[in-house]
Order: sequence, then C-alpha cells, then structure tokens
Amino acid sequence: MPTVRGRDFLSICDLDPDELRHVLDLAGELKARSRAGDRTAPLRGKVLALVFEKPSLRTHTTFEVGMLQLGGHTVYLGPQDIQMGTRESPPDVARNLERWVDGIAARTFAHSTLEALAEHARIPVLNALSDWEHPCQALAALLTVRERLGRIEGIRLAWIGDGNNTLRSLVLGGTRLGMSITMATPKEYRLDSETLVRARAAAAASGGAVEVTDDPAAAVREADVIYTDVWTSMGQEATADARRRVFQRYQVNAALLARAPSHAVVTHCLPAHRGEEITGEVLDGPRSAALDEAENRLHTQKALLAEVL
Ligand code: CP
Ligand code: NVA
Repeated sequence: MPTVRGRDFLSICDLDPDELRHVLDLAGELKARSRAGDRTAPLRGKVLALVFEKPSLRTHTTFEVGMLQLGGHTVYLGPQDIQMGTRESPPDVARNLERWVDGIAARTFAHSTLEALAEHARIPVLNALSDWEHPCQALAALLTVRERLGRIEGIRLAWIGDGNNTLRSLVLGGTRLGMSITMATPKEYRLDSETLVRARAAAAASGGAVEVTDDPAAAVREADVIYTDVWTSMGQEATADARRRVFQRYQVNAALLARAPSHAVVTHCLPAHRGEEITGEVLDGPRSAALDEAENRLHTQKALLAEVL
C-alpha cells in the first residue's frame, strides 16, 4: 500500500479502497490491543491542533483521547480562540499552526475553509466535519457495520432523512467497499448529482449499488443497516421549521423497523433528536448500534492518526 503519511483527509475519497480497508483493519487491531492494556505510544511527542468552529462531543473527545492513548498531545482551539475569518484568515491560521504542530483536525462551517487550511499548511489536515463531508464518521460507521455483520461488501444500507454531510461520506466510502446504499430523502434534500455520479461509479467498480427514493418503507425492505442523522445540521438552523415539516415521514421508528428484515441494525451518528428523526424506543433499543459507532470513532481516528501523522 502506498503510504498515507503526511496526507490530508478532507474527503473519504482521499483514501482509496485498499487504504480504507487498511485503516479499518488497523482500527480493529488498535481496539483489541487497547482492550488488552497495550500502551505503546507511536505518536510520542506529536501534537495535533483541533480547530473547531462548531460544537462537538464525540469528535473533540475522541481526537483528544486518541492522541493521548497514542502518546501524543492536542491543543484545542475553539471559535472564540481563533475567530477564523474575522480575527485571522484560514491561510494565516494554517501558516502559523504548521510551525508548531504536526497535524490539524478541523471542524468548519464551509468546506472551503478546510480546503484553505489544507492548501496553506504543509502538515496533514483532517476533516473533523464540514458542511460537505464527515469522513471520520464514515470510518466509524464502516467498522461498526463490519463488526456487527461480519463484512462490508454486499451489505445493504438504507439511509433515512437528509442528504447531508454524513450521508455524502458514507455513500462515497461504502460504495468503494462494495456496499449497496438506498437513500430515502425528500426530493429537495437529495444529495447533489455529482456525488451520486461518483458513488455510482464506485459501486459499479466494487459490485455495490446506489438507489434513490422518497419512500422510507421501500428503502428499508431489504436493509441490513438503517442509518439516520438529524434533519437540521449545524449551520442550517434558520431552515429548521421548514425541514421539520418536510421530514415528518422520515422518522426511524418501530413501525418503519417492522418493515425491515428482523436482523437489520439501526445506527445514528449522534447527537440524536429523539422524537424527530428517530424515536427514543429505537435509538435506545436492542437493535441500535449507535453507541458502538460512537466508540469506534476513537479506534478509527487512532488508526488514521497513526498512519497519517
Ligand atoms: N457524530 C459527531 O461528530 O458528534 P459530535 O458533533 O459530538 O462530534
Ligand atoms: N449532520 C450533522 C452531523 C453532526 C455530527 C451536522 O452536520 O450537524
């Protein structure tokens, strides 16, 4: 495998299928080693800057804990610290940070901010979520699917809800590894056509498939995995009322689950809005893998950090 060291990870497509499989394998190994008490520290002395324009529980914590467990350190820089775009431009932030730290994990509103950081920093920049992609979430989702169902290739995943950043990374990553993904979204909230073209090309090469529908029941009929996310992502709050009306039919609840095969598992990237995109009964129920996926954020990001930094 060509080395990924020093590489940016702005999109799930920044890892080719072999590299993706390698990161997932390493994540599985690191998870097992960590549970066995292994404390080797491959990133001793390395520092990762966390540049966050938006709030976070899972991403912030797992990057901090992951670096600590690998022997490195983090510097957290929230919106008030940097005031990126007003106090200092993204290129200037990048040109300064690269003098002190070994990598940047950034959570931004605009994906272009992340691209500007990557363009002007000679150190790796990792996407900790932008308005366009959430590739770290896709890594954790793929590992969770493999753990729960034994494989990724040939797995049928139904996405219910918004055609958002989380879905874009999941569909681009999943189809590269042979998944078949059916997306049930309202027509006006579908993924952009360029992403669909790329996903269909990846599926054609891997033996997967991509389907688009506006019917949640049809989407889950043959699903092994049912995935949902909030109806209103961070930065879209002004459109929350309109979204709540359009998305009413796109709730993962017991009635929808009854239309799916009995082995199907449900997951969510979290945070969840119980009673909106998913009911508490389903999210907290026996078929939910959401907290396994949250745990796997740690293991997959450790694998990514160990390979890239
Ligand atoms: N899933 C996820 O990225 O959660 P946070 O927003 O809490 O980081
Ligand atoms: N789509 C959501 C994911 C949060 C982890 C958002 O961008 O707010």
